[in-house]
Amino acid sequence: MLATHYAPEGHRKEFALEVAQVSHFYGEGEARKQVLFDNDLVVRPGEIVIIRGSSGSGKTTLLTLMGTLRRVQQGELKLLGEPLHTADASQLVELRRQIGFIFQAHNLFGSLTAQENVRMALELQHDGSTRNEQNHRCDEMLRAVGMGERIHYKPKGLSGGQKQRVAVARGLVHNPRVVLADEPTAALDAESGQQVVGLFQKLARESKVAVVIVTHDDRISHAADRIVKVDLGRIVRDTRLSEAARIGEMLSRCSVFDGVTIRTLTDVAEVMLAEEFPAGTRVIRQGDVGDRFYLIRDGQVNVHVDGKTEPVAKLGPGEFFGEAALITGKPRNAHVDATTDLVLYSLDKAAFQRAMSERATLDEEVRNTVFNR
Ligand code: CMP
Repeated sequence: MLATHYAPEGHRKEFALEVAQVSHFYGEGEARKQVLFDNDLVVRPGEIVIIRGSSGSGKTTLLTLMGTLRRVQQGELKLLGEPLHTADASQLVELRRQIGFIFQAHNLFGSLTAQENVRMALELQHDGSTRNEQNHRCDEMLRAVGMGERIHYKPKGLSGGQKQRVAVARGLVHNPRVVLADEPTAALDAESGQQVVGLFQKLARESKVAVVIVTHDDRISHAADRIVKVDLGRIVRDTRLSEAARIGEMLSRCSVFDGVTIRTLTDVAEVMLAEEFPAGTRVIRQGDVGDRFYLIRDGQVNVHVDGKTEPVAKLGPGEFFGEAALITGKPRNAHVDATTDLVLYSLDKAAFQRAMSERATLDEEVRNTVFNR
């Protein structure tokens, strides 16, 4: 059993979002086309829901309806308990302040710096905070998405991925209660993508923010509590991922488990322990005997080898360490140090080797079928 359970509270009565029998149409008269058909969906505070579907499936329309960017035509949609179909303009403005929109990066203002772009979101709040306080909050947010070095850059001086991270910072800086994101990680490399996802997870867990992400990016599916599939305007699947299934998903992307079935990895996940380590902890000491394998759930580590000043690797969420000693039987080949507070899933040596033996069997099978014909 998992020692720590991070599932969001499922028993809350209040929903962050409630979609009931929502249909939607584009065009008029002869050209009128139905794009959504009688959809029902609820999202609770603290939940991360990923919406998947091919382009034209209606998933982005659903997201824009949730975000009050389109009027509800048919059915009912409640945001933070407020019905949107009856809300007047000022109620909609009020509700939008509680939403963090993260759409594609292209809507940054070219003449404004990263900090100024992010500050726009705070200025719209009219919450009485001073310019200094706002700048401080913006800089903090930009640092959280790894853009601390480029606070005063304008969009033209930033890469696509960097612009996207500014867009993420702008969507989150005002402490929204609901985050609606359209492909927030598509332009990002693996590390920045995980950083952004880590931020979503932190907000969901610590501040009970509801996060809805429309994405094709498989690299972030482990972060979801639920995966909703939309096809031809209908929600055709709404799958709740157990924590074990989520860890199984993460493990299936670790190269060390290539060839191990997701079924086995979900079983392996059941016996993993969630462990927390404060920043600065040495999780693995070079030269020790290896007894556990680790998967990073939250936080970052540096891998350090004696005699070298620079770390040989920096690892983050979804990445793993501590496999080498278990595979080779040799002592740990590096130190692994927590550079932030960490949540790790760990697996004992015997369970790790059982999972690996499936891989060996599979390798053998492949070899036998390929070479012994
Ligand atoms: P192990 O030897 O069991 O313990 C130390 C771990 O550090 C090792 O397994 C690897 O998981 C990790 N490690 C060592 N060198 C590197 C590297 N160059 N890149 C990534 N991880 C490494």
